[in-house]
Amino acid sequence: MGTCDAVLQVLGGVVPRLSLSEKCFSISDSNLLSKSLFTHRKKKGSKHMQFLHCSSLLRSSSNNRWVLGIGRAPHINISVHRSAVTSCNCQQAESMSGITSENGNGTWYVDNARKLSTINGLVKGTDILDFDKVRESKEENEVFTSNGNAPAVETVRDAFPNVCVDSIEDEAWELLRESMVYYCGSPIGTIAAQDPTSSNVLNYDQIFIRDFIPSGIAFLLKGEYDIVRNFILHTLQLQSWEKTMDCHSPGQGLMPASFKVRTVPLDGDESTTEEVLDPDFGEAAIGRVAPVDSGLWWIILLRAYGKCSGDLTVQERIDVQTGIKMILRLCLADGFDMFPTLLVTDGSCMIDRRMGIHGHPLEIQSLFYSALLCAREMLAPEDGSADLIQALNNRLVALSFHIREYYWIDMKKINEIYRYKTEEYSYDAVNKFNIYPDQISPWLVEWMPNKGGYLIGNLQPAHMDFRFFSLGNLWSVASSLATVDQSHAILDLIEAKWADLVADMPLKICYPALEGQEWQIITGCDPKNTPWSYHNGGSWPTLLWQLTVACIKMNRPEIAAKAVEIAEKRISKDKWPEYYDTKRARFIGKQARFFQTWSVAGYLVAKQLLANPSAAKILITEEDSDLVNAFSCMISANPRRKRGPKRSTQTYIV
Ligand code: GLC
Repeated sequence: MGTCDAVLQVLGGVVPRLSLSEKCFSISDSNLLSKSLFTHRKKKGSKHMQFLHCSSLLRSSSNNRWVLGIGRAPHINISVHRSAVTSCNCQQAESMSGITSENGNGTWYVDNARKLSTINGLVKGTDILDFDKVRESKEENEVFTSNGNAPAVETVRDAFPNVCVDSIEDEAWELLRESMVYYCGSPIGTIAAQDPTSSNVLNYDQIFIRDFIPSGIAFLLKGEYDIVRNFILHTLQLQSWEKTMDCHSPGQGLMPASFKVRTVPLDGDESTTEEVLDPDFGEAAIGRVAPVDSGLWWIILLRAYGKCSGDLTVQERIDVQTGIKMILRLCLADGFDMFPTLLVTDGSCMIDRRMGIHGHPLEIQSLFYSALLCAREMLAPEDGSADLIQALNNRLVALSFHIREYYWIDMKKINEIYRYKTEEYSYDAVNKFNIYPDQISPWLVEWMPNKGGYLIGNLQPAHMDFRFFSLGNLWSVASSLATVDQSHAILDLIEAKWADLVADMPLKICYPALEGQEWQIITGCDPKNTPWSYHNGGSWPTLLWQLTVACIKMNRPEIAAKAVEIAEKRISKDKWPEYYDTKRARFIGKQARFFQTWSVAGYLVAKQLLANPSAAKILITEEDSDLVNAFSCMISANPRRKRGPKRSTQTYIV
């Protein structure tokens, strides 16, 4: 079936959507799932707590205890190191072998095995050779060469004075390496913040999925692939966790918001400890927010890993394919919704506190679109997933139509809304969502530049959230959810509103801030989200990397370069804070952590991409011709023609 037909079927409601039974796994999938579940371990006396464990057998004498390596590779007595790594890796290999048996050794296993062999020669040479072959082919397949059509590197580089900038970059690399967290001797992620001045750690000592994305990209662009591969595979195992909050379990494909490596005493043996992975799916998070963005970022990182390293064996693994499908099935499941956008609760993404973004926030929609495109590229064609791919394609078209059409505002569109008729009961209403023109806030009338526009924050019946949200807009550019014209207009707006959005430190998370009664009602009087602070109009240096990707995609890297230059004036002196406060980002955030890893990594990725713009391809997705065709079919199709009862294809014998 052509995509055009698919679109028409969506409109007519006759496309086979995923039914409940179809959401169940195929036999091979469920086998696989149960195998990966074997690696979980229930702790005695703790009903809900489960750990992914790695049985690091350690001696308890103080001078040879394994110390969990946050900050640097564990410095310990070599003989103990050896035994710890050995048992960790044996455990890993065992738990993964069922999963990878079909295609021989998974590279993750082989890679660890290779490391082992260099330590104590435990692993036979054949595995190691396999790994080396992968490496070789990676080098051959090196995706990015200097002959891409991206803008010349020199123009961007020349804009920077060299001396202090180099030292800022060096410092950033040092900090990023110090933030690495090790699990059984292998790097697995980066800690959210390492602020020695903070007395209240909360969960900033965890590895957050969304925070790791810029770290992972920085490592990929540096050619250091292991940490990203380990992160992808370990978080995948956490996906199938038994997760509950007050007896309720969220959907199976949910990825955690964060996880922690803990060293705990081994059951029944006081003298030994083990390292365990302890995830948080929101059941411990402040506000109990579900991290909808985690799985979407995971898919985006997985694609970037394959594209950058040339190692496609990770995305081809059966367990990884299953992981992708689980995330997709969770997102594509039928609900009550009339819209193709994902319906989520407040706080389900980077803004993980109540900020009035429940419903269909742009950030989630842009990540959803991006993840759908990435997944489409990676999913292995097989009979069992045809329905899923069909649903995915239909959703891509409907989602891009919906966002481009209904989320977009510029001067012209505001003027249209200003003149809207309301209470239109008809199939061809102009004001479909019954938006009352009085909703157009006075700030917007003043703020919207003549040249430029953006995608609004949220759309619900009788509600348009006109706030500008940076991440959602930037990722809509990067993922091609916004059209080419819209993408340029978004960058035009950022340039026109530089003093508001960039000011003294890039980049405002959203604009404007909620104040007064609005702040009281919408945030619930949240003292952390006071006007122009934190999520409520605060400025977040980590957003530099998404800004850079969007600018490079539109061939306008000089905008990002200018923002990086502003950041460089203060970011290191200010100790890499998590966020800045005030309208012009003049103060370090009230409760901002120092040495926030994604501030460091966001800066580094921006620098790496500006130095080598063609590398941004690992993050960018382009709309392909199938989608363009389907989209134009959709626009020209008359939705009314498709109405009427769903025709049944089933025959009944009476
Ligand atoms: C805050 C941010 C969230 C981030 C976390 C760890 O909760 O809102 O986006 O992931 O800190 O840095």
